[in-house]
Amino acid sequence: MKMLITEMNNIDLDRYLTEKKELVNLALHNLQPVSGPEAVRAAMNYSLEAGGKRLRPILALAVAETLGYGEEDVINVACALELVHTYSLIHDDLPAMDDSDLRRGKPTCHRVYGDAIAVLAGDALLTLAFEVVAGYGMKPGRAEKAVRIGAELGRAAGVTGMIGGQVLDLEAEGRELTLPEIETISVMKTGALLKASVICGAIAADAGEKELVLLSRYATNIGTAFQIVDDLLDVESSTEDLGKPAGADQERFKPTFPAVLGPEGARSKAEALYHEAIETLDDLGRPVELLTGLAHKLVYRIK
Ligand code: IPE
Ligand code: IPE
Ligand code: MG
Ligand code: MG
Ligand code: MG
Repeated sequence: MKMLITEMNNIDLDRYLTEKKELVNLALHNLQPVSGPEAVRAAMNYSLEAGGKRLRPILALAVAETLGYGEEDVINVACALELVHTYSLIHDDLPAMDDSDLRRGKPTCHRVYGDAIAVLAGDALLTLAFEVVAGYGMKPGRAEKAVRIGAELGRAAGVTGMIGGQVLDLEAEGRELTLPEIETISVMKTGALLKASVICGAIAADAGEKELVLLSRYATNIGTAFQIVDDLLDVESSTEDLGKPAGADQERFKPTFPAVLGPEGARSKAEALYHEAIETLDDLGRPVELLTGLAHKLVYRIK
């Protein structure tokens, strides 16, 4: 019997995450190009299938489910979000950016395939994302939603979103920033795509204006909480557990939330944002257990 969202407990949530991760992994596998130069396809596949929590696609699926829509209504949109995310990680790790050797427990894309192919594999994942969104829009009744989703995704990934945030993040290396400055970087480099995950899932599920406003607020709060926890884990966790180098922020003199607020201050800020996020859902008038559970997972995650 299908589990009602309202009956969901912690074990169910873990089962939900495992199930959805498998669903996303399979769909991503099937979306990869089957022709074109082998070198770039191998690099795309390597980074895409290296693992990863699949949080962005799962958020999109969960929002759609909360609004009464099924997996098939949103899976390709969910995959597009993960394609953009994986591209951003490949580029983030390049020597010209964070210069990292390890990602998702494996040598980074450029360490295996070289910088040029890694750049191009990232570009190919990004462009594939928009091809996938367009493909989603070709089914009856979806064309307008696909246009809105494409616009949302493009804006989130672009200069006023993730790219802009990545630029500010690089410019901030070695500098001392104020809390509002760090918040702005976080909202842009990480929050924008997480918010797009929620909003694109909501658009695919025909959310109304009021629902979009509430879900946006939820997403903004968990977006910042997510980056705070990423910064905290960089300080407090190990390379082995994270699957990416611990202590990397300090090594590159990155201004981070724990650097400005202290680890305890950063942790309580993440928790406060979590509470704000779930309070927003009170007015949604939908079963919210799934979205509150996901917010909790994301704030109390250990990797
Ligand atoms: C890491 O994202 C990069 C940030 C935006 C902070 P995730 O922690 O979601 O990485 P994966 O997808 O699980 O590898
Ligand atoms: C990256 O932030 C945000 C992206 C857009 C990829 P970080 O540089 O902190 O991510 P990690 O710690 O390398 O995963
Ligand atoms: Mg970075
Ligand atoms: Mg990085
Ligand atoms: Mg980080």
